[in-house]
Amino acid sequence: MTDARQPEPVPGTDVRHVVWRDDRLHCESADLAALAATHGTPLYVYSEAEICDRFQRLRDAFGPETRICFAVKSNSNLAVLRLLHRLGAGFDLVSGGELLRLRAAGVPTQRSVFAGVGKDEWEVEAALQAGILFFNLESPHEIELLERAGMTRGVRVPVAVRLNPDVDPRTHAYISTGKKENKFGLGLDTAGAAVERIVASPHLSLVGYHVHLGSQVASTQPYLEALERVQEFLAGAPERRSGLRYLDLGGGFGVRYKPGDPVLDPAELGAALVRRVRGMGLELLIEPGRFLVAEAGLLLTRVLGTKGSGSVRFLLVDAAMNDLIRPALYQASHPVVPVVRPDPDAPLGTFDVVGPVCESSDFLARGVMLPPLHRGDLLAVLVAGAYGAVMASNYNSRRRPAEVLVSGSEAKLVRRRDRFEDLWAAELDT
Ligand code: LLP
Repeated sequence: MTDARQPEPVPGTDVRHVVWRDDRLHCESADLAALAATHGTPLYVYSEAEICDRFQRLRDAFGPETRICFAVKSNSNLAVLRLLHRLGAGFDLVSGGELLRLRAAGVPTQRSVFAGVGKDEWEVEAALQAGILFFNLESPHEIELLERAGMTRGVRVPVAVRLNPDVDPRTHAYISTGKKENKFGLGLDTAGAAVERIVASPHLSLVGYHVHLGSQVASTQPYLEALERVQEFLAGAPERRSGLRYLDLGGGFGVRYKPGDPVLDPAELGAALVRRVRGMGLELLIEPGRFLVAEAGLLLTRVLGTKGSGSVRFLLVDAAMNDLIRPALYQASHPVVPVVRPDPDAPLGTFDVVGPVCESSDFLARGVMLPPLHRGDLLAVLVAGAYGAVMASNYNSRRRPAEVLVSGSEAKLVRRRDRFEDLWAAELDT
């Protein structure tokens, strides 16, 4: 007999800190049903311990000298940013808004890098004023933009050129960024001319290169291919490598959404990259988002009812595509688990878990095996900590969910649910 009080992980996932205790699902030691009663649903719940563990795994894999710049776009809650800063992370920013978020979180920007495929003047000025490690140059026209900013401020602007190595990351087409048909970075055929201009400019300083292949990458191979292309590019002319300090190989480390998903092993990737980059005399940066926060988050939702029969049965819940858009946008599948552990003998049925939004693409999961559930029962949608709350919208005039950060048995509300007045607060009476 197993001890009923022994916490048990949810099978088929890599989530460590969402566990069964006495047949009730907990985030660390916080009872999810109790959190739903206190804060309502839909509710995002994050585990601090999971983020700490994942960060430590990357630290162990990449060593103390690699700079880990958390991709703010994946989860930009101020409490999450503060936690990652305390752990020693820098940040990968893609907009002035993200820079202002760091400031709002009281987190220094000096260890941050600023990418973004289209940069506005105010964003460049704000980043220069705040002080960042470097800008990732994404297009030739940004050379003038950064030069002007450097000239006005009387500084040399640190620039890492984002190379598009035309390597297939073998991921969903919408989250592939390192192929030549993607809008990101400079192709290896045009980057040489850009580098010549940067090196010749008295207002710019070439400090390194950046590559980001895409997101949810499942193996080490594409990173190694990209590194090879970068090395070939550097070998092409002496000015391409003089005075360099950094090689930023981006993020994209994939995680497991469903049993059997191949996942990238950070230890293998770290072992392969760190040695090679050190051999080039450069400092390695990585920009993980999903890897650090996906498993740490879940979306708690309440059942509103069931309908349908025969081949398609719907489980209607109170969370929708506006709360978690990944299933609708990328055909992503997230594990869905009842918050009260079902009787092992309960008959299972196959359901599409759908929300109240008026779109047929409004589903959280399709074809999931679930026990009989009734209005009021709770479900947890797991591996939802990355690109979950940050991509939430007010579509159908729905309020974006609240967010809670759990540490042990302590659960802090770190974002309140939108108020209805928030929905029209920015609209003007004309
Ligand atoms: N660095 C750059 C330049 C990026 O564009 C991204 C992600 C990252 C780092 C972080 O990638 P990660 O380690 O999180 O895979 N919304 C999509 C993912 C979009 C990723 C965009 N760029 C999703 O939900 O799958």
